[in-house]
Amino acid sequence: MSSTNEFERIFTVVTPSFAAVDAVIRQRLEAQLPLINDVVDYIVGGGGKRLRPLVCLLAARACGYAGELHVEVAATVEILHTATLLHDDVVDASGLRRGRATVNARWGNPAAVLIGDYLISRAFQMIVALGHPDVLAVMASSTCVISEGEVLQLVTQRDPHTTEERYMQVIHGKTAKMFEAAAEGGCVLGDQRYRQAMVLYARHLGAAFQIIDDVLDYTSSSGELGKNVGDDLAEGKPTLPLIQAMKVAAPQDAELIREAIRHGGLDHLQRIIAIVRDCGAVDYAHQVAARESQLAVAALAQVPASPYRQAMIDLAEMALRRAH
Ligand code: IPE
Ligand code: IPE
Ligand code: MG
Ligand code: MG
Repeated sequence: MSSTNEFERIFTVVTPSFAAVDAVIRQRLEAQLPLINDVVDYIVGGGGKRLRPLVCLLAARACGYAGELHVEVAATVEILHTATLLHDDVVDASGLRRGRATVNARWGNPAAVLIGDYLISRAFQMIVALGHPDVLAVMASSTCVISEGEVLQLVTQRDPHTTEERYMQVIHGKTAKMFEAAAEGGCVLGDQRYRQAMVLYARHLGAAFQIIDDVLDYTSSSGELGKNVGDDLAEGKPTLPLIQAMKVAAPQDAELIREAIRHGGLDHLQRIIAIVRDCGAVDYAHQVAARESQLAVAALAQVPASPYRQAMIDLAEMALRRAH
């Protein structure tokens, strides 16, 4: 995120639970096969912002939960997220994640897919062991929606006629739903009266987060992002900066983008970066993300004031300013 200190202030309110999440993840993922352990050490140890477990812990506490089961729920959410990253990097043919070679680049696609499957299976084993039917229901339906979102994205890939509405549908599925699972999974341990508020908060936070991710793919650098910039263009993904640029850029520039989406590849990356910036598409995407962030904050209006609720508000505001 843009400021480490700011981020630290947010997770400090759930210390030591936040620190306990990583220990639980490592413990629960311990396997018989060295290959699994090597890959898990590599991806889990590779950093990652741990935003979803953070949301889960904050939501549980904001909803009045005083026990420790939220650590386990937060760990399962991060494990599921990690699985989606392993699969996503195969699908997107990405070579860099968390500042290092992706698992698919280092161990190959089959290992990345199969170990992603292992993580999902383990996560569900953990959720079942929790013995909390509401948490199980949340996670089971969320993983379905996320998979559907990924497939919807596949369908829109290389289609320059993808609308902003369709784009929002994709990001609600593939990204926001995981944030929802985190917040809802935390909430159901506590006061369920705030369940809808938590879901809505996370839906908007997740949308803001993905829009900024899609902007960063054109405005950041691989060094700062820890991922290769231009991955979206290379795969012909019609993300919001491009959708807006195709609407407002000069006709020949819009046509260049349409062609780039149809064919994928990075031949025109530098030119397209300049177009999306100069035609105001980056600013536009920032505005849409800012609106989502405001809606996330507004969703918490009825939730009782607490340091946890405040940290959730801060997180929604910080999501807009993040640099990685
Ligand atoms: C990456 O999520 C996938 C998206 C939804 C954009 P994060 O940016 O939270 O990834 P890590 O866990 O911090 O590496
Ligand atoms: C997020 O989309 C994918 C997941 C939900 C895992 P991206 O494809 O934009 O994520 P990054 O940029 O590879 O992290
Ligand atoms: Mg990707
Ligand atoms: Mg991305």
